[in-house]
Amino acid sequence: ASIELGGYAHFMQKEIFEQPESLRNTLRGRLMRDEGDARLNGLQLTDEEIRSFDRVLILGCGTSWHSALVGRHFIETLAGLPVDVEYASEFRYQRPLPLKNTLAVAVSQSGETADTLEAMKAARERGARVVGVVNAVGSSIAREAHGGIYLHAGPEVGVASTKAFTSQLAALLLLGLHLGRRRSLTVEQGREVVEAMAALPAMIEQTLKLDDELARIALTFSEASNALYLGRGVSFPVALEGALKLKEVSYAHAEGYPAAELKHGPIALIDDDMPVIVVAPADHIFSKVVSNVQEVRARGGQILVITTEGNRDLSAVADREVAVPATHELLSPLLTVVPLQLLAYHIAVLRGCDVDRPRNLAKSVTVE
Ligand code: G6P
Repeated sequence: ASIELGGYAHFMQKEIFEQPESLRNTLRGRLMRDEGDARLNGLQLTDEEIRSFDRVLILGCGTSWHSALVGRHFIETLAGLPVDVEYASEFRYQRPLPLKNTLAVAVSQSGETADTLEAMKAARERGARVVGVVNAVGSSIAREAHGGIYLHAGPEVGVASTKAFTSQLAALLLLGLHLGRRRSLTVEQGREVVEAMAALPAMIEQTLKLDDELARIALTFSEASNALYLGRGVSFPVALEGALKLKEVSYAHAEGYPAAELKHGPIALIDDDMPVIVVAPADHIFSKVVSNVQEVRARGGQILVITTEGNRDLSAVADREVAVPATHELLSPLLTVVPLQLLAYHIAVLRGCDVDRPRNLAKSVTVE
């Protein structure tokens, strides 16, 4: 195992640090710079079919469901199609209403999650065209799908999903671009996204340099038994994912919340000891997040802000701040999630948890 770990202490750590490479592999050969488009040969959808969709439905479980929630923003923004996101386990038992002109997307790292597999069958029976966003080549979900996008992220061993998440986001961005360019997205708009995507692997490399700082921050949070993760817009699912990482590997209770919903309940939990991690990149909703953070500050809380380099607007209210490189605002989740992965990892190690084999969890859940 030490050879496979290549100098890292755990697979989770190795896979976090592999992300510049896994992302490059997901993007390889797919970015069309001149056309501002994404080459997705495996999708098997004609331009005519793409123009016939009036709705997208994304299905997944766990971390893949979080990717789906981010993917909704990508597809709604780039392709102008309304997107619904469902937990596969819930969708499969819903009333079987017809899904006309619907593109269903099953997101799964392993391609073997039983609920996702059944949900995609249910979506197809209801009339949807079903494609997969899958890492494991030849897996059940990949075979069940009409076509799809392979992540090519390489095998993910750590039970807590890390590199698959960022690659899923990249694949969903490619999908949004591809659908968008066959609908109303202009070449110029497409190019802007393609250029930003091409720069992402190097930016993740840059972001990974925050590791030492996050290891230090982890020391201050390692004894906490609760944490709140906040975000809005594309950063809300990132908050959910950050909270899930912490729960999975450190067994601390953590909740992800849309920052503005805090006042409708969770704010009651805040006292001086409560870690509050705020995902607040500089984007169109940032000023709103500032007022949400001020509400927390007024009630105590140990505030860690994840923001964009050069943005100092929360420095006065934050106890600690880490910054990721500036990118197209739609793409920030691929960067802001990295510090949250590192934070969860370091907290778990400090707590003496078995990071790669957390209790009660399985890498893929092949039973209902
Ligand atoms: C399990 C894993 C999670 C994963 C989820 C969905 O719960 O522990 O890391 O996100 O299954 O798995 P999938 O392979 O379908 O993405």
